Amino acid sequence: MRRRAADFRRPVRRRFSYWIWVLLGLSSVVGLVLFVVHHNQNEDRDEYPLLERNARLEHFAKESLNFTEEILSVKSFSRQLTQQMILAKAYVVIAKEHNNLHLAWQLSAKIRGCQLLLSKAAMTGEPVTLEEAEPIIKSLSSLIFKAQDIHYDIATTIVTMKSHIQALEERANAATVQSTVFGQIAAEGLPKSLHCLNVKLMSDWLKKPSLKALSDEKKNSQRLVDNNLYHFCIFSDNVLATSVVVNSTVSNADHPKQLVFHIVTDGVNYGAVQTWFLSNDFKGATIEVQNIEEFHWLNASYSPIVKQLLNPDSKTFYFGLYQDANVEPKMRNPKFLSLLNHLRFYIPEIYPQLEKVVFLDDDVVVQKDLTQLFSLDLHGNVNGAVETCLEAFHRYYKYLNFSNSIISSKFDPQACAWAFGMNIFDLVAWRKANATAKYHYWQEQNADGTLWKLGTLPPGLLCFYGLTEPLDRRWHVLGLGYDLNIDNRLIESAAVIHFNGNMKPWLKFAIGRYKPLWDKYINQSHPYLQDCATS
Ligand SMILES: *[C@@H]1O[C@H](CO)[C@@H](O)[C@H](O)[C@H]1NC(C)=O
Ligand SMILES: *[C@@H]1O[C@H](CO)[C@@H](O)[C@H](O)[C@H]1NC(C)=O
Ligand SMILES: *[C@@H]1O[C@H](CO)[C@@H](O)[C@H](O)[C@H]1NC(C)=O
Ligand SMILES: *[C@@H]1O[C@H](CO)[C@@H](O)[C@H](O)[C@H]1NC(C)=O
Ligand SMILES: *[C@@H]1O[C@H](CO)[C@@H](O)[C@H](O)[C@H]1NC(C)=O
Ligand SMILES: *[C@@H]1O[C@H](CO)[C@@H](O)[C@H](O)[C@H]1NC(C)=O
Repeated sequence: MRRRAADFRRPVRRRFSYWIWVLLGLSSVVGLVLFVVHHNQNEDRDEYPLLERNARLEHFAKESLNFTEEILSVKSFSRQLTQQMILAKAYVVIAKEHNNLHLAWQLSAKIRGCQLLLSKAAMTGEPVTLEEAEPIIKSLSSLIFKAQDIHYDIATTIVTMKSHIQALEERANAATVQSTVFGQIAAEGLPKSLHCLNVKLMSDWLKKPSLKALSDEKKNSQRLVDNNLYHFCIFSDNVLATSVVVNSTVSNADHPKQLVFHIVTDGVNYGAVQTWFLSNDFKGATIEVQNIEEFHWLNASYSPIVKQLLNPDSKTFYFGLYQDANVEPKMRNPKFLSLLNHLRFYIPEIYPQLEKVVFLDDDVVVQKDLTQLFSLDLHGNVNGAVETCLEAFHRYYKYLNFSNSIISSKFDPQACAWAFGMNIFDLVAWRKANATAKYHYWQEQNADGTLWKLGTLPPGLLCFYGLTEPLDRRWHVLGLGYDLNIDNRLIESAAVIHFNGNMKPWLKFAIGRYKPLWDKYINQSHPYLQDCATS
């Protein structure tokens, strides 16, 4: 390993302005925490004034549930429960730090009750009622009061910056938990309108042989392998999301004709995706669509992830998370099973002639010209990515099992984590470092799931350890799929915004405030979208 983990290098490029930005962020965090604390203390003294107000307003809430509205509404019980849960979670941390395990346990039990109630509300589509909410809110309040009473006063305990950040992280975690619960419903499958679009596109693909001829002709374009052009790759089974990524990238590019997009989708969606990109205008950019089922080299004898996905035991492992929750099979998130998700580890194999590629997740929107990324100095590193350990403690120990000696002997638990979603990959350096072989090694070590549980980030953290160059954070702003409180200025300044989390912009659980940022890159007057919007 040539370099220490990214965290230990403080590159000169982290300019002064960057730190001003960070300080600005931190001070608003402090403000927010103090506001929440103050607000909640008052609330406790007043003995649930919101409860009474809610009783009067309750009959308004009877129509069908709009989750965005419900969670944003000051009047709703869901919001009240959510807020109390966040405070309670902060106290769980504090109680644990003070070794008051009994109180931590009591609080945790109530938090679970809270979560159950919220997920029930989401499943049945009916708002939480006064009768359901009152006992939980009351007992949570009295526990929180107890916590304050025995000196776990949040305002005095949280004195250091570390604790402020931790409280913020609890807030983010609460949002994640809640979005996971709602997300399981959403993850059931594509919404009806998207399914409708797929069907229409697919029938075009089958009816019009000219489309197939056109796609065959484009396969041989020299532009696909021209390293003087700017190459992007997207691996997705969602045609509309992919369209938004491509369209937003070309719409904000200074010279869209110099961009080349490499899309890989699965067999079911291949025809639809081809049809869409052949029949819409993307400002002259070159677009290639491939079918993952034609990657015969990506088989069980070469790739441990393919082997693991085919193995019935590991299937239960990949689904384990959902089985624990006793959720119906159709609620399971098929994304975890999807090989498309792991394709990011095979980019040099898929594009053997390319030297640099920007990888984009299908839940991002590009807002600036990205070609500058290609001329950034990665200092010999493979992966350029934004780090995520600034605002919350997203360090290696969060993602990996450091009780395991093969992890703890090779990695620093405090190393800073980074994000997938918008990465610039130097494929020459990648091949030289054998990063794919490293990924294979770690994926094999984790066959029993003891090093990490799910996802592509943990193996990414391992195989790009010491090979990652931190980028300015404004290249990639995360959280639009779960965090309700992202600063508008941060969003505006972002080159790429990422709807990671379960509240995807194409789902009905999308966060209302961010949805227009995605919607504006869809051609609303497209006849198929108009037909499908109503069905
Ligand atoms: C839900 O509420 C949000 C915010 O008021 C609104 O923008 C959105 O259109 C609503 N969604 C539905 C499906 O009614
Ligand atoms: C599996 O992939 C390897 C290379 O990755 C290739 O040599 C082999 O022929 C493939 N096997 C099959 C059955 O396609
Ligand atoms: C990468 O793999 C090749 C052959 O598998 C080997 O010769 C080379 O030393 C490896 N390089 C590194 C940096 O591990
Ligand atoms: C972490 O690794 C240790 C040692 O291999 C193992 O005993 C433990 O079960 C692992 N933890 C999880 C959550 O898998
Ligand atoms: C791309 O986005 C623009 C808005 O920037 C929109 O007018 C256009 O219709 C979109 N094109 C497609 C194919 O969705
Ligand atoms: C939107 O779609 C319509 C119908 O296909 C097309 O005529 C129009 O040019 C498209 N607009 C843009 C900006 O792509």
